[in-house]
Parts: sequence; structure tokens; C-alpha cells
Amino acid sequence: MAAATNEIFDLVVIGAGPGGYVAAIRAAQLGLKVACVEKGGTLGGTCLNVGCIPSKALLESTQKYHECRFAMQAHGITLKEISFDLAAMMARKQKIVTTLTGGLEYLFKKNKITRFSGSARLLENLTVEITGEQTETVQGKAILIATGSRAAEIPGVKIDGNMVISSTEALSLTKVPRHLVVIGAGAIGLELGSVWLRLGAEVTVLEYFDRVLPTVDKAIAKQSLRFFKQQGMKFHLGARIESVEQISDGCRITITGHEPLTADKVLLAAGRKACVEGLGFEKLGGVIDRRGFIEVGSHWQTSVKGIYAVGDVIGGAMLAHKASEEGIACVEQLVSGFGHVNYRTIPSIVYTHPEIASVGQTEESLQAEEISYKTGIFYFKGNGRALAIDDSDGMVKVIAHKDTDRILGVHIIGPRAGDLLAEAVVAMQFSASSEDLGRTCHAHPTLSEVVREAALNIDNGAIHG
Ligand code: NAI
Repeated sequence: MAAATNEIFDLVVIGAGPGGYVAAIRAAQLGLKVACVEKGGTLGGTCLNVGCIPSKALLESTQKYHECRFAMQAHGITLKEISFDLAAMMARKQKIVTTLTGGLEYLFKKNKITRFSGSARLLENLTVEITGEQTETVQGKAILIATGSRAAEIPGVKIDGNMVISSTEALSLTKVPRHLVVIGAGAIGLELGSVWLRLGAEVTVLEYFDRVLPTVDKAIAKQSLRFFKQQGMKFHLGARIESVEQISDGCRITITGHEPLTADKVLLAAGRKACVEGLGFEKLGGVIDRRGFIEVGSHWQTSVKGIYAVGDVIGGAMLAHKASEEGIACVEQLVSGFGHVNYRTIPSIVYTHPEIASVGQTEESLQAEEISYKTGIFYFKGNGRALAIDDSDGMVKVIAHKDTDRILGVHIIGPRAGDLLAEAVVAMQFSASSEDLGRTCHAHPTLSEVVREAALNIDNGAIHG
């Protein structure tokens, strides 16, 4: 018999990732009495514990190592006997994770959010059963599901956590693999492939489509492939994987029409699926769509009255900041009757080198919708700061409506692309035209001038191109 707390919360949030914890804090700020149920030992979900943050820590460390080996000579700096200590690299990564998840504990206390540890199961009457060290139940006036996602498997390939791994294990290997085969040329595959390539692994990426990064602007994805190949990453595009089997000292990967590959590790990064198992959502009449995501209507209301859902578990862009935006808007809607997410301006970034960043529509999506557009491109090679930092590969593409000049999309491959994208997101949020961006003074010498020059180039007006 589960022990029931007598308290009724205004909101019970299930999951403390960037969707759930942000929603919990915002709800508390707005005066709601909030509980948050999390089954992991720490707050922060995939993003903080085994996703965005640890991967960025390793990408930074390994890029520094790579630069010490190959990029310092150009600056007149000579380094001898460059080596790395993988355990120290991992410890640094873990310290960052611990700092941030500890910071969330503090924020929960500061905002008087009651935390429950254990797995949540939905019962009737907006009640949640929590199974942890003990079993207890809590009741809410509303419930928000933000249980996130986990690596999806594909036919013939099962994650065993040892030979065939997901991003979680790929962030904590204790030895550099001799040959890492990555299945999927999306964000995870290319980011984690880059980490281990820089540390000396042979990395082969197998991608089902005939291109990498299928959702990224085609020309930018094509450029990225060239850069990854220059770095030594190998690719099999259009690869139909039949199976991955364990052999004596690793795995054999069978691909239709190709010689089989052998590898000591296979990283499966072919997409993610919603975490809905054990939630009991369907038992209450909740609808899960055919792709396994919780179906929501307007304002993130599920088919069960009083139960809402945000983030990866409802599908769409599986991005931490998209989940957070939804979490905030959902609770603001609950409290004030107003809550909105502008899905047209959700940025997306791949933190490889160079970085790849985009917001809004691509040329391909505009063509599909038969919307007339014009483009302006500018290359980092024409930018003084990019040359000064010796990082001038890549370009910015600004896409604007042919008649109104309103910016419809901005796509960047190059140094600090993710940071540069922020001004494009703001511009689009304020419905700016490319002329607005082009007439805005940008500091010299900065990388941001490339964004301005690309905007100016829509009317062939770039000064340095
Ligand atoms: P993804 O959807 O970005 O890429 C998966 C890739 O695997 C696609 O190119 C797809 O065509 C390919 N693929 C699918 N089935 C395949 C098969 N059977 N054989 C070969 N290739 C196959 O998924 P990913 O990289 O696993 O990431 C999951 C989610 O997490 C994505 O939505 C991604 O945007 C997000 N994410 C975002 C990051 C960021 O913002 N920097 C970092 C990591 C993940």
C-alpha cells in the first residue's frame, strides 16, 4: 500500500530534464506549489548528465588537443611531446556535470520545489505513484510529463552498452577505441565521432541517406562532409545496415552490398525515442502516436484532462532549449491563460568543428512549399577576425522572402556558428528583414560581420565580397 502525502500540489512535474526542471522553476516563480519527480540520482536529465553538457566538455578538450597537435605551428608556437590523459579529461567533464546538477539542487530549494526520487506512474484523479526507496503517492491539480527520450534501436542492431553503445556510454569510454563505427550521421554521431577521432580512433560513419545531417541546409551539409573527411572521418552514405554481431574481439557490421566492417565499438546514433514505458499514460486513455510520442493538442494538453506533456516525449525537434521553451509556455498558460512558443525560431546547432548552426527554413523546405526566396552568402575567408584566429572555413547563408525581404532562415557553418546564430534568432523573432540585419552596425573586427555581409549580399551589397 503506497503512502500518500496529504499535500495537493498545484503542479506535479514528471522528469527533471530541461523540459521538466525549467517548467518546475517557472511554475514556482509564478506562485504555484510544485513537486518534481525524478528517477535519476541527479537533476538535469539527459542534457546535463549524459548529453549536451558532457559532450560539449569533451568536444572542447579534444579540440584543444587537436589544435595543440596541428594548429599551433601556424601561430609560431612550437609544442613538443603532446599527449593527453583520458581519465583527467573525463574527470573534468564529470566535475562540470556535478557543478551544474548541484546548481539545480540549489535552484529547487530556492524555489521551494518539492523533489520526489523514484519512478512515476500515473493513477486516476491526477495522482502519481512514485516508486523509489519506498512507494508513495502525490496528487496534483495538474501534471506535466517531461520524461524525455532515449537512443532508438534499429532492426538488426541492439545496444548492449559494451560493444554496441549509445551516446551515454560513448561519453565515458575508458580507452580510445581502435575503430569506432558510428551508425547515423546526425548531431550525436558527428559530435561523438569527432571526439574519438581527435583522440586517435579510426572513425567510420554509416548513414542511411545519401547525405549527412539530413535536416540541415543541403549546401552547408555538403560542405561539412568535406571538412569531416579532411579531418580523417570516413563515411559510407546510403548504407543499409543488416546486422551487428559480436565476434571474438569486437563487432562485425554487415551492410547490404558492401564488404562487412569490423570495429571494437559501434555507436548507435540513429535517432531517439520517447520515454513512455511504465508511465501508465495509456491506461488513463492517453494517446500515443504511431511513432511513440505522446500526442498533445493546443497548449501541450494531452488527451487526459489535466495532464500536459512537453519536450522530447512529444516529438518535434529533440532539443533541450525547445523542451525548456515548451515547459515555460505550458506553465505560463496554466497560470495566466497565455503561453506561446515560436517554433519558427528554434535554433539548432551541431558542435563539431566547424560548428553548424541553423534557424528557420532551408532552401529545400521553401522549395517544397513553393515560397519564393532570395539568398545572400558570405564566406569566413573574407573576414579579418576569422583569419586572425586562424579559423576561416565555412560560410553564412541568409535566406529572405523574395518580395517582403523578411528573413526566413539563417544557416551557418564556421567558427562559433552557434553563438553567431543568436542575432539571427532575435532578428527572426522580431520579423526583421535582411535589410534590417544589413543596416545594423556590427563591431569590427568580429566574426559577426560575416552574418551582416551575408545579409547585405542578398542584394549583392557585401562590402568585402
Ligand atoms: P538524428 O535524427 O539527428 O540523426 C540520426 C541519423 O541517423 C540521421 O542522419 C538518420 O538518417 C540516420 N539513420 C537513421 N536510421 C539509420 C539506419 N538504419 N542506418 C543508418 N543511418 C540511420 O539523431 P541523433 O544524432 O541520434 O540525435 C538524436 C536527437 O538528439 C536529434 O533530434 C538531435 O537533434 C538531438 N541532439 C542534438 C544535439 C545538438 O543540438 N547539438 C546533440 C545531440 C543530439
